[in-house]
Amino acid sequence: MQIGNHILKNNLVVAPMAGVTDRPFRQLCKKLGAGLAVSEMVTSNSLLYGSEKTLRRANHEGEVDPISVQIAGADPKMMAEAAKHNVDNGAQIIDINMGCPAKKICNVMAGSALLKDEPLVAQILKAVVGAVDVPVTLKIRTGWDKNNRNAIEIAKMAQDIGVQALAMHGRTRACLYMGDAEYDTIAAVKQSINIPLIANGDITTPEKAKHVLDYTGADAVMIGRAAQGRPWIFREIEHYLKTGEHMLPPTVEEIHTVMLEHLHDLYSFYGDLAGMRVARKHISWYTKGLAGSASFRHNMNTLQTIELQLNAINDFFAELKSKNERLVYVDTATEGSEALAA
Ligand SMILES: Cc1cc2nc3c(=O)[nH]c(=O)nc-3n(C[C@H](O)[C@H](O)[C@H](O)COP(=O)(O)O)c2cc1C
Repeated sequence: MQIGNHILKNNLVVAPMAGVTDRPFRQLCKKLGAGLAVSEMVTSNSLLYGSEKTLRRANHEGEVDPISVQIAGADPKMMAEAAKHNVDNGAQIIDINMGCPAKKICNVMAGSALLKDEPLVAQILKAVVGAVDVPVTLKIRTGWDKNNRNAIEIAKMAQDIGVQALAMHGRTRACLYMGDAEYDTIAAVKQSINIPLIANGDITTPEKAKHVLDYTGADAVMIGRAAQGRPWIFREIEHYLKTGEHMLPPTVEEIHTVMLEHLHDLYSFYGDLAGMRVARKHISWYTKGLAGSASFRHNMNTLQTIELQLNAINDFFAELKSKNERLVYVDTATEGSEALAA
């Protein structure tokens, strides 16, 4: 898998997720097998470049190459400026967000709302591709709604303008996250373009990743929600694609170790108080389905210092380890469906 001059170590991509794919999470996923991780979206509004949130999102210190930064906005000039600004700050790939259905984004006609206005899409793509020397990628949905699936037109246009890879979520803007992602439109787009296509939506297991790759002919798969609390999903998929066999799921001991490393990274990235708060949702994801985790997670949200947070985690895992338990994924497609088997 190659994007511009960047040869990726595999075809497994971490989806951009605002509030989730910060630098610590991207680093962790890359360490555990992902070939590429796209940043949380960064605003194209230059007035916000100096804000704490935007500065943090633009911090790539120590990040494994290639560094892909997603920008969001609807004004071609501002998007071009934002692309340049982020390249000056370390971005090696610029990704354009035309896939996010969030109201906050679509109300200003950015994200997936842009799919409704093809001439504006063309202007934005031309402006961004013309502004930077690094590869530009685009993330879209299948269209605006089920009657307006214009992904093929957008994909061809993007390729002609010089976009170097396309990520596609198999839902329309109107679908939000409802129903199942569909892969027929992704397969049809693959038939119409030559640039690498990254398929996205509801990929939760190694089998599903293989199915989507085979069914769509896509060059790569992108995984979002299934990596929350399960960053090792990338090595599990890589192993399955290579061998046709499943890796053993991580031991409780390893989950504990990975989680502690992740939390310490969050504390140093965000600072103690903010880091402790950001850590809560990750702790909840990591422990979902583990024996006794419901009351553990409930209690976690009442703890107000790093020390208390870490003590509670260490006690919880000590109890699990004393029972010699191992995490077994029964059906990861259904939230909270993991079960513990002795
Ligand atoms: C919490 C959250 C935040 C997201 N933020 C972004 C974003 O900033 N930019 C974007 O293009 N997509 C965003 N998405 C969409 C994901 O990149 C992805 O397309 C979607 O979750 C479907 O993939 P999945 O089924 O593997 O989760 C977000 C999704 C979630 C769940």
